[in-house]
Amino acid sequence: MTEKICILGSGIAALQLAVHLGSRYEVTIITKAQVKTSNSYKAQGGIAAVLSPEDRFELHVKDTIRAGCRHHDEKEVEKLVKEGAAVAEALIKSGLPVDRRPDGGLDLGLEGAHTVHRILHCGGDATGKFVIQHLLGQLGKNVRMIEHELAFELIVSAETGRVTGVKTKTADGNIRHYFSDHTVIATGGLGSLYPFTSNHPEIIGDGIAMAYRAGAELADMEFVQFHPTLLYAEGRAKGLVSEAVRGEGAVLMDENGSPVMAGVHQLKDLAPRHVVAHQIHQTIHSGKKVFLDIRKIKNFEKRFPTISRICRESGIDIHSGLLPIVPGSHFFMGGIVVDTYGRTTVNGLYAIGEAAASGVHGANRLASNSLLEGLVFGKRLAAFLNALEPEASGGETAEIARPPLNPEIARRLDTAALKEKMMENAGVIRTETGLRHLLRWLEARGADTFSAFSLDHLTKEEIEKVFMFTNSFFITQSALFRKESRGAHIRADYPDESSDWQGIHLIHAKNKGLI
Ligand code: SIN
Repeated sequence: MTEKICILGSGIAALQLAVHLGSRYEVTIITKAQVKTSNSYKAQGGIAAVLSPEDRFELHVKDTIRAGCRHHDEKEVEKLVKEGAAVAEALIKSGLPVDRRPDGGLDLGLEGAHTVHRILHCGGDATGKFVIQHLLGQLGKNVRMIEHELAFELIVSAETGRVTGVKTKTADGNIRHYFSDHTVIATGGLGSLYPFTSNHPEIIGDGIAMAYRAGAELADMEFVQFHPTLLYAEGRAKGLVSEAVRGEGAVLMDENGSPVMAGVHQLKDLAPRHVVAHQIHQTIHSGKKVFLDIRKIKNFEKRFPTISRICRESGIDIHSGLLPIVPGSHFFMGGIVVDTYGRTTVNGLYAIGEAAASGVHGANRLASNSLLEGLVFGKRLAAFLNALEPEASGGETAEIARPPLNPEIARRLDTAALKEKMMENAGVIRTETGLRHLLRWLEARGADTFSAFSLDHLTKEEIEKVFMFTNSFFITQSALFRKESRGAHIRADYPDESSDWQGIHLIHAKNKGLI
């Protein structure tokens, strides 16, 4: 009996799952752009894993929990670290061309908040590209790839409440139905809700908004990570300058040549990301420019070919030794509530990778733990699904009906204004006044109501706008509610961590609101 699995998204978690699913499954991967348009493909730093004799599982766990401010599920962190080392070893064994030292040993890099060199990398700073190409080469004949179709609505059986597939919009505006026994969201985060971001412009949290619409719970929506160093040129963020650059000795300087991180944190330039991003944000808002001084790094172009190319394309001369930088949205710690296997709160629906709130990142993800998460959870979900008893296919089901959203409302949504407002009010630093203003602005445009309506009749662009406003509403509501600073959620009016908020995860649930 053939069973069907639909995987939405084509990043590292999606491909790792597809590679490990047994041949009894007919697998369809659906991506709204191209396979190579994932954030995973762009990843520079690498894969954090305990692979050297100087390292230990306990150290990786400790670094992860310290960087994420104890907002984790600690059991999940332990599993991630242990399974992560095995998964990384398996990748190397299967032929992933990792960077090595002249003596043949693994060339493990150092990044922010890691106490040991443990970052496995490929092609200098092109790890994502190498891993994705490696996984693509391992896909079986049971996997087909659909590109340029936007998955926009999970099909929820009106009879059972189970997800039985997904509807997509094709490039020419038609709707296609893909019925499946299991549907997996692996669509990544939502970095492009902000104007300064390391993410592809397509990454706006489609899967997260879709899961909510289908009845799945969302958690930790206030935790958006800002990467401290995006290359800044012509008033825009031009791409990531990996933390590995600071790991190799680069130092953050203001325009007067004063070190930005002096006296701020004991780890200085390699402090956790939220600490560095906050300090850079403050420096820029005091009217000074910030640069990454790379003059101490020998053979920069050889070690960092991708970053050198981004600089060249942006008109920045790396031989000047100073790279202008700005913080920008990078990673989402919140997302769809899942258990250890990636099961959501809705039958038939799973989430893995950045779209999932799996409990492993806490309030601020440790550098290079994201590719690791995708690899570990992709493999673990495959093992879970492979172990299931074969079931008769769910087949086609009748959907829950909803009234259509007035297309004029969707048409009028201004995403450029949204991004500016998100950066200003729900960005690196937040305040009650700013968040309240943003929430009112979003409500005035209907962002709190969109999930009650059908989007079938809208264009792809209009649906994406609806998703952007929906997700922004959840982020803003949670950020307003959480009256403390923890990890990437920094409130100027509540600058400290509060024991009252320790262990509290804000949940968004359809028909229940914020709980
Ligand atoms: C980086 O290379 O700085 C980014 C890697 C990551 O986000 O883990």
